[in-house]
Amino acid sequence: MTTRKRKQSSDLLEKLGKTSIVLIGMMGCGKSAIGKVIAARLGLKFHDSDAEIVEAAGMSIADIFEKFGEAEFRRVENRVIERLLKEGPAVIALGGGAFMSKKTRRTISRRGISIWLKADLELLLSRVSRRPGKRPLLATGDPRQIIQDLLEIRGPIYDQANLHVSSTSGSKIQTRDAVLEALAQYLASQSNSQEAG
Ligand code: S3P
Repeated sequence: MTTRKRKQSSDLLEKLGKTSIVLIGMMGCGKSAIGKVIAARLGLKFHDSDAEIVEAAGMSIADIFEKFGEAEFRRVENRVIERLLKEGPAVIALGGGAFMSKKTRRTISRRGISIWLKADLELLLSRVSRRPGKRPLLATGDPRQIIQDLLEIRGPIYDQANLHVSSTSGSKIQTRDAVLEALAQYLASQSNSQEAG
């Protein structure tokens, strides 16, 4: 790691304190893949809310949807995210629908910095089609149409995230560095405004 990058990481960690980095966005935008490399760079723990739910429930997301329905999945998701945020600081990748909950958004605003990883429809589709069956919401019809409809509904809510970063088909490292850069600027502007106030 170059000296500049090491300094960027230690500055970020210091400014973050107990605050977690929370990655949000559509299925297939790369939250987990990018979250892992961000956590590795900063030496923070990484959590994936879906994986935590699967572990707590002892069954797959698809089985939870089938046996208990989406509303119950959302309740469990809410609790899991609240617990992970309380344990912070960490890098947390959320399931695509989690940020739609007002309660979850409120918890995140207290204990985290939300980052929307934005990817276009074609990229999302190519990524989710690698693992069909993993995402129950896409099994109910034409995945292209479903993702398009969800993007329309969720876009204005995702827009409330503290930061927006493009997730492209380039390397994970490029996106990781774009997130870290955006985060560094955001935290610097926050500490400047605190000093001014
Ligand atoms: C969902 C996204 C999934 C998972 C569940 C519901 C959604 O997570 O939480 O299938 O509502 O968009 P990923 O975004 O990690 O695929």
